[in-house]
Amino acid sequence: MKMHRLIGAAAIVAASISLTLVANAGTVSYQIVDDGIPKSLTGTAGNAQAGRKVAYNRKTGNCLACHKAPIPEQQFHGEIGPDLKGVASRYSEAELRLRIVDSKKTNSDTIMPAFYRDTGFTRLQKKWVGKSILKAQEVEDLLAYLMTLK
Ligand code: HEC
Repeated sequence: MKMHRLIGAAAIVAASISLTLVANAGTVSYQIVDDGIPKSLTGTAGNAQAGRKVAYNRKTGNCLACHKAPIPEQQFHGEIGPDLKGVASRYSEAELRLRIVDSKKTNSDTIMPAFYRDTGFTRLQKKWVGKSILKAQEVEDLLAYLMTLK
């Protein structure tokens, strides 16, 4: 009898866990291997030109708020994070993908936002609930741009 109740409770817990996962499934799943995400989020090669725009657009990546980058036509570059020039010589594509997707996975104290995460935030504005800052293809475009920074 007791055993049955336990199994019943476990089933309910399992069901509610899978429900939460489905409810938050706004982003595609990905696998972290070592210090990176080796597989493309979309399977479609990124477009470096589009990615460069994602990087400087204040409404998308806004990377220049914290980083310098070789984007001379944009004025104010931040200095909170490292210069992105040469970043592809320091990191592999997989490592850079993880740093864009969720840099908290490599440094839990970082102030760099997780650009492709839709859960686990505190103090989130309503319009962002269940949404990531960047879409999967924007991550791939941005990555294609970063890979040109050797
Ligand atoms: C709020 C500030 C902030 C924003 C916005 C930000 N970053 Fe960062 N980033 C940092 C900081 C600080 C670091 C230093 C490492 C750390 O904190 O883990 C970093 C590290 C990095 C690194 C590793 C660089 C290295 O040489 O070690 C990459 C790559 C990177 N950021 C890319 C980006 C991209 C691409 C964007 C825009 C989509 C972006 N960051 C937006 C703060 C930011």
